[in-house]
Amino acid sequence: MYKIVGKIKLAEGIDRFEIEAPLIAKKAKAGQFVVIRVNEYGERIPLTIADYDSSQGIISLVTMSIGKTTYMLSKLKRGDSIRDVVGPLGKQSEIERFGKVICVGGGVGIAPVMPIAKSLKNTRNYIISIIGAKNKASLILADEMKEISDEFYICSDDGSIGFHGFVSEKLNELLEDSEKSSDSDLRKDINRVIAIGPAPMMSAVCSVTKPYSIKTIVSLNSIMVDGTGMCGACRVEVGGETKFVCVNGPEFDGHKVNFNLLMLRQKMYLNEEKKALDLYEEKCGCKMLEQKNGKTC
Ligand SMILES: Cc1cc2nc3c(=O)[nH]c(=O)nc-3n(C[C@H](O)[C@H](O)[C@H](O)COP(=O)(O)OP(=O)(O)OC[C@H]3O[C@@H](n4cnc5c(N)ncnc54)[C@H](O)[C@@H]3O)c2cc1C
Ligand code: FES
Repeated sequence: MYKIVGKIKLAEGIDRFEIEAPLIAKKAKAGQFVVIRVNEYGERIPLTIADYDSSQGIISLVTMSIGKTTYMLSKLKRGDSIRDVVGPLGKQSEIERFGKVICVGGGVGIAPVMPIAKSLKNTRNYIISIIGAKNKASLILADEMKEISDEFYICSDDGSIGFHGFVSEKLNELLEDSEKSSDSDLRKDINRVIAIGPAPMMSAVCSVTKPYSIKTIVSLNSIMVDGTGMCGACRVEVGGETKFVCVNGPEFDGHKVNFNLLMLRQKMYLNEEKKALDLYEEKCGCKMLEQKNGKTC
């Protein structure tokens, strides 16, 4: 059992959990993830290690409630326990001195981009962060991202905070401006873009950076089951080859990823997922939507 020693609500439907997991905290590196099971009968779901403190033996997970398991997780409180936490899994991020790196985070994707940005900052890279959310109320970790960034931009789909538009549009604007700038070093120095968020967002970011030939790393959120390379559930196509996100990733060269296939595979179990949530809500006697509106069960 893994004890929850802290829980903070970051935004509506987004929680940050601090979990006692000393062995994982000791080994964790930026970019890696864990697979958790809320209880003995629970589904296994992958979650990125948003932060880790090896001296305290604690890892942080940031979760967005979008279905049965993440909804069950959101109901746990400080002092409760999670049945299984397996990890750290996946390859760690490539952390080197690249020069200027643009870190792009969308929605709950801001949480996994943060430890990567932090490690890159500690390796003396110049960090330009672009983070975005649907609106001001659902934006998370803005202060923390600002603190580790040399340049910092916020975007919102509805314009309620920062730039009115998608993170990919802000990125496009920055790259266009740097093209026009007399300071030709500006774009030349941008050696890497890291983008984490929903698949359509990562795909859009890759379309923006491709004409500039800026290496773009994305972290893929495919469906996973075992997380150890055995079941094949997480397969994706990268550069025309089949790769397993859990062992070959989760980070890949975004310009080589077949995003259409990824998005198709993400929708594979929509009916089953809806059924599982409906059954759970029936049993629990309250609707996820009602909880979002402030009613609790
Ligand atoms: C490497 C990796 C890291 C991730 N990190 C985070 C994170 O830090 N925070 C976060 O909130 N989410 C993260 N996700 C996504 C998270 O795993 C899904 O949101 C979660 O599994 C949804 O489960 P559910 O039962 O609540 O929803 P469901 O109703 O079961 O599913 C909703 C959607 O979530 C995705 N999903 C469902 N089951 C899985 C599964 N077993 N594996 C992967 N995706 C699934 C599907 O696209 C599905 O349409 C990550 C996914 C991967 C692959
Ligand atoms: S989750 Fe089973 S092979 Fe990757």
